[in-house]
Amino acid sequence: MRTSVGQPVRLVDYRVPDYLIEAVELDISLDRHATRVTSTLAIRPNPAGQAGVALDLDGDELVFVSAELDGAPLASADFEASASQFLLPRPPRGPFTLKIETRLDPAANTKLMGLYRSGSAYCTQCEAEGFRRITYFLDRPDVLSTYRVRVEADRAEAPVLLANGNLENFGEADDPARHWAIWADPHKKPCYLFALVAGDLAHISNSFVTASGRKVALAIYVEPEREERAHYAMDALKRSMAWDERVYGREYDLDVFNVVAVSDFNMGAMENKGLNVFNDKYVLASPQTATDDDYAGIEGVIAHEYFHNWTGNRVTCRDWFQLCLKEGLTVFRDQEFSADMRSAPVKRISEVRVLRSAQFPEDAGPLAHNVRPEVYNEISNFYTATVYQKGAEIVRMLKRLIGPRTFRAGMDLYFQRHDGTAATVEEFIACFAEVSGRDLGRFMRWYTQAGTPKLTVRGSYNPAERTYRLEIVQSIAPTPGQASKLPMTMPLAFGLVDPQGGDMPLISPDASPGELEGGVLELKESERTIVFHDVPRRPALSFLRGFSAPVRVEDDLTEDDLVVLSRRDSDNFNRWQALQSLATRVLLRGVKAIRAGRPPERNAGLVAAFGALIEDARLGRLDPAFATLAMTLPSEADIAREIGEDVDPDAIYAARKTLRGALGRAHGDALIELHRQLADSSPFSPDAAAAGRRALRNGALALFVDGNVIDGLALAHLQLREADNMTERLGALSVIALKPSSTREHTLDAFGRRYAMEPLILDKWFALQAQIPERETLERVEGLMSHRGFSMSNPNRVRALIGGFSANHTQFNRADGAGFALLEKVVVTLDPTNPQIAARLLTAMRSWRSLEDERRRQAEAMLRRIAAQPTLSPDVRDIVTRSLG
Ligand code: TRP
Ligand code: ZN
Repeated sequence: MRTSVGQPVRLVDYRVPDYLIEAVELDISLDRHATRVTSTLAIRPNPAGQAGVALDLDGDELVFVSAELDGAPLASADFEASASQFLLPRPPRGPFTLKIETRLDPAANTKLMGLYRSGSAYCTQCEAEGFRRITYFLDRPDVLSTYRVRVEADRAEAPVLLANGNLENFGEADDPARHWAIWADPHKKPCYLFALVAGDLAHISNSFVTASGRKVALAIYVEPEREERAHYAMDALKRSMAWDERVYGREYDLDVFNVVAVSDFNMGAMENKGLNVFNDKYVLASPQTATDDDYAGIEGVIAHEYFHNWTGNRVTCRDWFQLCLKEGLTVFRDQEFSADMRSAPVKRISEVRVLRSAQFPEDAGPLAHNVRPEVYNEISNFYTATVYQKGAEIVRMLKRLIGPRTFRAGMDLYFQRHDGTAATVEEFIACFAEVSGRDLGRFMRWYTQAGTPKLTVRGSYNPAERTYRLEIVQSIAPTPGQASKLPMTMPLAFGLVDPQGGDMPLISPDASPGELEGGVLELKESERTIVFHDVPRRPALSFLRGFSAPVRVEDDLTEDDLVVLSRRDSDNFNRWQALQSLATRVLLRGVKAIRAGRPPERNAGLVAAFGALIEDARLGRLDPAFATLAMTLPSEADIAREIGEDVDPDAIYAARKTLRGALGRAHGDALIELHRQLADSSPFSPDAAAAGRRALRNGALALFVDGNVIDGLALAHLQLREADNMTERLGALSVIALKPSSTREHTLDAFGRRYAMEPLILDKWFALQAQIPERETLERVEGLMSHRGFSMSNPNRVRALIGGFSANHTQFNRADGAGFALLEKVVVTLDPTNPQIAARLLTAMRSWRSLEDERRRQAEAMLRRIAAQPTLSPDVRDIVTRSLG
């Protein structure tokens, strides 16, 4: 499967490996610039592969030193070694041992793939193709081996030496300034799960007793002095371990589980067997430094990586096309965990917001791809919202279609049948087909067709016959390389809401027996019509409850229906959705009005609905976290997505600002009262209930300010002074930062100085300033790029400032193209040092075609300038080519 640079990799070309690597012995002697890696591989021909072919090992920027075959040095005529390949043209016919030494410069590794330095520590990142940057190997997930790793380092520089598995031995090296440790991992794994960490790290420890009574030593390693900030992550880890036993019957399988937080990391975290490596943003938290969202993020990512131990590690992926097999499934599992730990409807709304804001645009633009892609140029560009989030939605639909018990039986079968192997999506789905006795052939289309299905839904009530007729039609727009699509199978949860309260009974001869019991219709064809009987009066249709399928819905509800649903729906998700839909309609009309030079309307229904919401929140009749989400208007990007073409960001901004102003003015007194009521003098707790109250308090403040600037800013300054936690401090600062005022610069400045030594807090400060909706923001962002706390080589800093700026809908999409030009400059600068991050930043252009003419021309020109660069990484080349394609 090894391909030369520039050749796309295709699923149809998959072949089993011709050689297997049974066991790997690594001897790694760490040095900042000259690390020595000796790899001893126990290799044998794969009986299922081609016999007698060359052994072709992957490498990437490697420096070859020497090689031995079965204990004897290899003559130069008997092998070829380059930076990217080790080739043995005529390997022995039976099992053999290959020993290869390479040399590395971890300090020069800016790509953060392979072995690199983060702060004063050594660490590794091997998924997807980083192991080949450490040593020559069959770097593909279907080659599973046991590993035994000896790590040696300077004792003072790296008192802590970690690798996967259990600690076997440790001791002093020949050079007394150095020491070593041997780690052995008995579980066979693909090389992308290899990890090593060494450095001067502090840790906290704990333990967990598994259901079968085995004691597991747990530790979280952090920079010295940061230990106190690791306790929440430890707590989340123990809850995750207990949850996976309780809900999926899955126990941990080593004597130790280590987590390490590093400050330079390309993604969120990595599930290396027994040694998870984390972006420190997803480990470190204290009330003074982390927001409630940070706490929730830590809980979710700790769970995610831990759950990979079964979905990813024990059962891994046959090839990278199957990435969703581990990622979609593990996201689904971490979502269920968080829903259990917190409020399920609130969690569901947040998930859908992420799906719609990150995955829907991907699916609607030039970067659209299947949840299981069929071709890639650069695999690291496929760690996408489609693979992760839409992949999780597919598992969720599957569970709803076959029911929770059968779903669990299917998972049990999957673990039993595929434990210790590298599996495919087909094999996963086959387990559920088997336990449910259903044909899931059509359901598989969710993996093989890109694009978000659109459901057109029409309801009509016939008072004479007391019937309600529901018509559903699905369609999917063409996506790159897929002109026509086949209908998808999906569960549609729904209800008929009686305007006088409650759900009406669902009686229909058109339903199959038992089908309507759970209020779920199964859509299998491109259309379905169903007539309900004994419907006493015209219902309000509550469609797609709990967002039971990842689709767009175009319905014919009236605005009165939406108000009814927002008040009465028994499904909390749809109560939220009703308000979002209502606000979206008002905003879309507002945008039209503004573009036509008319003032936007004041919508009495929406103003009243907000009044009711605030009143319910004040009287404690609503979960505060839910009320916060319900009070959050669709974002500028949400509205842009609804408009879909000829998008004018300034008009969207103006319409939204006008509406927020009207709501804030209309309910000023109630909002102030709500804000006052939610003041909390009890000691800080990160639990969901307390977090919900803080979120609502921040939400009330923000809406109040939009309608009452002067009083609002005074209140924000008060909150900023009095806050005893980062959530309230940042809530107040955001309100102050986003509005011009005489105190703004001073306040921002003071915050920046106060947290000058706290990079994760500076990230919030960078991101916030990048989001200011003013023309000067561009210069501000350029200025911040020279701030002492900023660094182009740290992905978190870059994501905060530059990623934050590209989420600034009006300023990034400026009609003069200056916003795009700023991104261009950063992408081109960063590409030679960290191509993964450069490529990721460039995906901010994914919706460029939906902009109005002038902006679209500017966007296209920017992409063409990047494409014309003489040297580009495969990562950026791939994104820019597909974006223009
Ligand atoms: N497997 C990781 C996860 O849990 C993703 C990941 C971490 C990753 N680091 C990476 C992917 C670097 C690509 C490159 O989701
Ligand atoms: Zn993952």
